[in-house]
Amino acid sequence: MKRNGPKTVYIETYGCQMNVADTEVVLSIMRENGYGRTFDLTSADVVLVNTCAVRENAEQRVYGRLGDFKHQKKKNPALVVGVLGCMAERLRKDLMQSELPVDLVVGPDEYRKLPELVENAREGEKGIAVRLSRVENYDDIIPLRTDGLTAWVSVMRGCDKFCTFCVVPFTRGRERSRSLRGVVDEVTTLVAKGFREVTLLGQNVNSYNDESSGSNFADLLASVADVDPMLRVRFTTSHPQDMSMKLIETVARHQNICKYIHLPVQSGSDRILALMNRTYSSSHYRKLVNAIRGVIPEVSLSTDIIAGFPTETERDHALTLELLREIRYDGAFTFKYSPRENTKAWHMGDDVSEETKVHRLNEIIDLQRDISFSKNQNLVGQIVEVLLEGASRKSLQDFSGRTDSNKTVVFPQTEHVVGDYIGVSIERANSATLFGIAASNAARVDARLARNA
Ligand code: 5AD
Ligand code: SF4
Repeated sequence: MKRNGPKTVYIETYGCQMNVADTEVVLSIMRENGYGRTFDLTSADVVLVNTCAVRENAEQRVYGRLGDFKHQKKKNPALVVGVLGCMAERLRKDLMQSELPVDLVVGPDEYRKLPELVENAREGEKGIAVRLSRVENYDDIIPLRTDGLTAWVSVMRGCDKFCTFCVVPFTRGRERSRSLRGVVDEVTTLVAKGFREVTLLGQNVNSYNDESSGSNFADLLASVADVDPMLRVRFTTSHPQDMSMKLIETVARHQNICKYIHLPVQSGSDRILALMNRTYSSSHYRKLVNAIRGVIPEVSLSTDIIAGFPTETERDHALTLELLREIRYDGAFTFKYSPRENTKAWHMGDDVSEETKVHRLNEIIDLQRDISFSKNQNLVGQIVEVLLEGASRKSLQDFSGRTDSNKTVVFPQTEHVVGDYIGVSIERANSATLFGIAASNAARVDARLARNA
């Protein structure tokens, strides 16, 4: 079907925030080449899926979705369908040879080629570009964002850690950093557009290294925080091996760097940590947490945990529960181990049964829910500062926003507007959300500005 008017691209994003940021880079590249974004699949000229390969179920979802696109392509044979991201890198041949309606397979370091590959595909030529690069960091591309309040800013790509369970080093390649200048300029533009929160992203931000200026991640974080005292700055993910005191002190020193650190531990068992090649012991991790809490007493911590890694015993699992009880995280992202081909752990087998994995995962989730609940009860009666994000999804009479420590707060609507910082007096809480009413905020915001003056 030949269509008139400007060409359009529809894109769906799966997986981590890095993919969300990459999608914005892709949209920018496509726009430079005449493709406007559409949210309507049925009218699109090009359909892209930006995929995740970290766990099996993420891949299954994408295969399911590609099945849906088959119908779309029947209706519109000129439609170009492309698979981007980690799955493109990992399953290139499968995706090309299968019965799926896939015209393009493009890995995370080849997005500059997309417009050319799309044009070829429109002429009927399938395309594949999956080379990984040691240098590509898209530093010069201004991601295409819809205006809003919070933005994800990728500061580095790839990972050199090679945790034995993880495909990322294979799908995203070697670690490389953007320039400090490029990141700071991007954040400055975001502030001018009204953004109030940025999250600096990398698989392991602690190893950020801008060779041109000799800057490390602490330097970058400080420079971003200095762009505007009213901008909240977050970052993720931190690897426990590479977190420096300088970074911890930088977080403490800047009032607008959120006192929230995502510090995945993965397991509480030293035997499992060694098999995972995490390169730290549980006692190193505990000491690090103590050091962080010593410098930033109010800090919130979250973690990632994998249940059922190969050879994990009840004893190993008990050590993970013990660590959770001891550290008392504010939140945890929990996963069942999922074997990934070509990783080292793949060759260790997958000997923990599905039933045991589910059982252990549920124990972890239940324990963490109790801890989150009790930590949130401690905030009842306190006034917390909330960045107003908009109407609550559950009730239109309420506002929703987040604290510095990344907790969601719901409270009855006031005269405030999105982007305001509001003091909210907390009245009750469950394990996921705080509920309260707005207190006067003027004094708090003035204090925020004065602290940074
Ligand atoms: N199986 C289960 N969880 C995994 N993760 C990464 N690879 C796997 C896997 N093969 C989890 C880790 C990581 C998070 C992003 O995803 O906990 O920190
Ligand atoms: Fe994967 Fe480990 Fe790198 Fe995180 S640090 S992306 S878990 S290899």
